[in-house]
Amino acid sequence: MKKISVLLGVLLLSLSAMVMADPVVIKFSHVVAPDTPKGKAAEKFKQMVEERSKGAMKVEIYPNSQLYKDREELEALQLGAVQLLAPSMAKFGPLGAREFELFDLPFIFPNKETLYRTMDGAVGKRLFDKLDGKGIVGLAFWDNGFKQMTANKPMHNVADFKGLKMRIQSSKALDAQMKALGAMPQVMAFSEVYTALQQGVVDGTENPLSNIYTQKMHEVQKHMTLSDHGYLGYAVITNKKFWEGLTAEQRSLLSQAMKEATLYERSIAEQENADSLARIRAAKTTEVYTLSDSERAEWMKTLMPVHAEFEGVVGKENLQAVYDIAAQVAKENQAAKDKPATKAGKKK
Ligand code: SIN
Repeated sequence: MKKISVLLGVLLLSLSAMVMADPVVIKFSHVVAPDTPKGKAAEKFKQMVEERSKGAMKVEIYPNSQLYKDREELEALQLGAVQLLAPSMAKFGPLGAREFELFDLPFIFPNKETLYRTMDGAVGKRLFDKLDGKGIVGLAFWDNGFKQMTANKPMHNVADFKGLKMRIQSSKALDAQMKALGAMPQVMAFSEVYTALQQGVVDGTENPLSNIYTQKMHEVQKHMTLSDHGYLGYAVITNKKFWEGLTAEQRSLLSQAMKEATLYERSIAEQENADSLARIRAAKTTEVYTLSDSERAEWMKTLMPVHAEFEGVVGKENLQAVYDIAAQVAKENQAAKDKPATKAGKKK
């Protein structure tokens, strides 16, 4: 009896120590608005982690470059000043992981299915392996969407880009893309884009619709071309030392919450972009133009050589993998289309 009450006492003491211990704080810094696919998924992740850990883990979200701008946040993660980031794939170059620029190549993903299979398969794994030696662990790939062009003049044909100063993210593939169009690319942190557009420091930019709308870029851009000419998505990453310092249970809780937040993020991205387009149209500050088939063909002819130019940077194996996945997806889509026709044929 005495033994049992001693044991109970020890149990109670360790339980109260667990409850009273300082929570593990995870600072999640990002550069976009809270009401974007990334911002909403970060919030979802926070809710799940705090609820499931019963407060033993706390996620502090710092959106809109509140803590750090693009490049600074990567340095902060490596130094352990923040624990979680979700930079766009275009921002891994300064880390020495330029293979991520695969995702920046123009017209690389014909559809989202090709994109997801690329992220979730061998290519995504190879990219995350690249981060290992840099003190970073890759946790997930998050989606945003295809990019559209904005400027203060219409952009229908390639010639319309001649001499335009276009803000880009810090990616050499994006630099090459803008140069191929005849524009003058200028690297700039995301938090500075609105003011730069407003003051005419740059003439235009490219981004998915949810970023254009939530940063109010449409208020200072008279024209937008719906071109889907490139893609923007994210790699969610953490500091390796922090990650390895967690207990196996904590890592498992975080991994599961990240898995669910990723599914959620991918499920809302398309709708968030569609809603943003509707809001931009309703604001009536920007003329929205959709590329015709022949204009798209001209853009593609001009931009596709960037793939070969960057084969050595993004990895031949990675580039070929995307082409193979795209071909497989096209084959499956065609087979799905043909199926009802065959059935109808048999019935005849
Ligand atoms: C982001 O979506 O995280 C920012 C993209 C950009 O810098 O254009």
